[in-house]
Amino acid sequence: MARSYSIAVIPGDGTGPEVIAEGVKVLKAAAAAERLTLEFTTYAFGGEHYMKTGEVLPENAVAELKKHAAIYLGAIGHPDVKPGILEKGILLKLRFELDQYINLRPVRLYPGVECPVKGKGPKEIDYCCVRENSGGLYTGMGGQSRPGTKDEVAVQNMVYTYEQVERCLRFAFEYARTHGKKARGIAAENRLALVGKSNVLTYMYSLWNRVFDEIGAEYPDVKREYYHVDATCLYMIASPEMFDVIVTENMFGDIITDLAAITQGGLGVAAGGNINPAGVSMFEPIGGTAPAWTGKNAINPLAAVCAGAMMLDTLGEKKTADRIERGVMKVIEKDMKSMEAGRMGLSTSQVGDRVAEYVS
Ligand code: IPM
Ligand code: MN
Repeated sequence: MARSYSIAVIPGDGTGPEVIAEGVKVLKAAAAAERLTLEFTTYAFGGEHYMKTGEVLPENAVAELKKHAAIYLGAIGHPDVKPGILEKGILLKLRFELDQYINLRPVRLYPGVECPVKGKGPKEIDYCCVRENSGGLYTGMGGQSRPGTKDEVAVQNMVYTYEQVERCLRFAFEYARTHGKKARGIAAENRLALVGKSNVLTYMYSLWNRVFDEIGAEYPDVKREYYHVDATCLYMIASPEMFDVIVTENMFGDIITDLAAITQGGLGVAAGGNINPAGVSMFEPIGGTAPAWTGKNAINPLAAVCAGAMMLDTLGEKKTADRIERGVMKVIEKDMKSMEAGRMGLSTSQVGDRVAEYVS
C-alpha cells in the first residue's frame, strides 16, 4: 500500500516562504521517487497575518495542526512587529501546546562546506544536540515590580519539573543508543554528554545530574559525560570531535546550537526538529527570517531542505530522508560556491531545482 502523510506547511515570515517553497519542491520530488504520497496544506500564520488582522494565531490553529502528521515551518518574526509577540505567540506557543519537548539539532559539516574552525572537517564536526524544549527560562514565569524606578525588580525563573527532566533525558539516552557514533559505526562507544552549570545553578543541576545518573543506569551501553556550558562552547571550537550526543536545558541549548551552526557552515545549512515523540512534531531551518535577504531569491534553502529530510526520518521514512541528504551533499559538492546567502553561485530556486533533480 502506498504510504501517505498529511503535512501542515507554515511558510511564515521573511525568507521563510522562499526556503519552504524549495523544501516542498524537493520533498515532492523525493516522495515521487520513493512512491510516497505527501499532501501539503498551507497555513498563513505569521507577521503579515498579524498586521492585517491583529490576530497572532487563529483560535482553532492548534486543533487544526493536530490533524496533520507533521508541521513544516519556515521562520517567524517580522521587522514591524515588536520582538516577542510573534515568537512567543506562534513558535513558542506551538512548541508548548503540541508538547514538542525535544528540540533536535544535528551538527554535521558536509564535505565541501567551508568551515570557519581551522583544522576541522566533516570527520570532526559530526554530533547532535538534544535541547529541552518545554521548560526552563522559556516557561515565562517571573515578573517585575516598580517599573521605571530605581527599585525596579525583574525576575525570570528557570523552572523544571522532574517529569520534564526525565522525559528529555530518556529521549537523549534512546537517541544516543540508536544514533550515537557506535550505532553509526564510527566509534567504539555511544556517548551522551549532559551540558549544564552545576557549579552555580546548584538547585537546577542537582536535579538534572541526579536524574541523568538514575536513568543512565538503565543504559549501560551509553557512556555518560558532564560538561559545564561555558567550557562546552570552548570545546565546540577547540575539539568538536569529542562530542557525540549532547543533552541540555532549553536556554543553554538555544545558545550553543547557534554556535554549533556556524561550525557546520552557518544558518544556511542548520536544521532542527521540535519533537513530540508521541504527537505532532514541527521541523524548521533554524536560521530565522533573514530580513536583509527577503525577496532576493538569494537565501540558502538547504537548511529548510534538511529540515524536510528530518521530518521524513522522524515519520519513519528513512530511505526518502537519506535520498534527500544525498541530494544535498551532491549540490554542495557539484554546484554551490558557498553556503552564504548571495554567495552561493546559484539562486535560492536554482539550488532547489538542482536538489529536486538529484533526488528524482
Ligand atoms: C530558536 C529561536 C527561538 C528560541 C526564538 C525565535 C524564540 O532562537 O528556535 O532557536 O529562542 O527558541
Ligand atoms: Mn535560537
